[in-house]
Amino acid sequence: MHFTQLLTTLALAGSAFAMPPKGPKGLADAMKERGREFIGTALTLRGNATEEAIARNPADFNSFTPENSMKWESIEPGRNNFTFDDADRYRDWAKKNKKEIHCHTLVWHSQLPTWVSQGGFDNATLISIMKNHIFKVAGRYKDVCTRWDVVNEALNEDGTYRSSVFYNTIGEAFIPIAFRFAKQASPKSELFYNDYNLEYNGNKTLGAQRIVKLVQSYGVEINGVGLQAHLAQETTPTAGPLPDQKTLETVLRGYTQLDVDVVYTEIDIRMNTPATPEKLRAQAKAYETVAKSCLAVKRCIGMTVWGISDAFSWIPGVFPGEGAALLWDENLKKKPAYDGFLKGIKARK
Ligand code: G3I
Repeated sequence: MHFTQLLTTLALAGSAFAMPPKGPKGLADAMKERGREFIGTALTLRGNATEEAIARNPADFNSFTPENSMKWESIEPGRNNFTFDDADRYRDWAKKNKKEIHCHTLVWHSQLPTWVSQGGFDNATLISIMKNHIFKVAGRYKDVCTRWDVVNEALNEDGTYRSSVFYNTIGEAFIPIAFRFAKQASPKSELFYNDYNLEYNGNKTLGAQRIVKLVQSYGVEINGVGLQAHLAQETTPTAGPLPDQKTLETVLRGYTQLDVDVVYTEIDIRMNTPATPEKLRAQAKAYETVAKSCLAVKRCIGMTVWGISDAFSWIPGVFPGEGAALLWDENLKKKPAYDGFLKGIKARK
């Protein structure tokens, strides 16, 4: 080859190497390319640098949900005694890493300190306690909470209201009242009702539709329903099998028809452990199905997975013998589930 030809060839090869790779590089990139808003993860800042680096990678995640730090017991452990330090770390992490925060959660029967759950307050006092909590917490983070889970898990499996100090004292009105306070305290945040097992198109699915209509009937704004999507790829003692894509889409549309957005807020897809290569392949398919259902519905604006690594997932502690539900394994290695999820986000039909 002539010397100048060689130089041209080398220059061309060099420019080819310098070209960015074609197509989206990660989950969030792919999601945004499809015109949707976000991919998030639950986040606990526990000092694991590898896990944190994965959560920080903007190609995969442009949002996160603080896993525990904004819950009532963490943030108002005594009456009007607010402990914001931990939640502030997440606000600062979001600012530093340019992430949206899906804030979680204002009114929930669980992780609720006994001074609230066993305080014996009358209706008016409990409403004033709820008001103070929402104004102080949602008010403090009003510029950083893109979305808020305002009310969490208010339903039983049969779609009736769960017995809780809020329901038992105030009645169903506690829900619209909480949304009204949240809108006043944080006008720019999108406000969500969030629950699990809404994905099966059963009575609980309908219960959450009733909640949306209830809030609207009070003339109060509700912007979305969060479907937690704590699912299983196979039948386990506590969950599964996975709803098919058509069912998932029907469920999502049941909410968007009420003029609200939908989000999968806490996705994990568990199995009977230990994982095998076959189960991991089935899990990848399950993640693909869930992603496709979201992309099939225009107002499904985003999806959050409930953590990075199987090593830190809540599942094995609560459901022994089940787990391996996330996109990275216990050694923080990407699983086939990651590719399945990405494939589902990219799929055009
Ligand atoms: O912080 C304390 C620590 O000081 C103590 O030594 C340790 C001993 O058990 O407990 C620590 O608190 C734990 C906390 O996570 C932080 O790690 C709690 O016991 C534990 O119950 C808590 O679990 C969380 C769970 O919610 C509580 O209900 C999980 O991390 C969290 O992933 C899980 O998330 C929920 C969503 O908020 C709502 N939807 C369901 C989802 C899964 O359960």
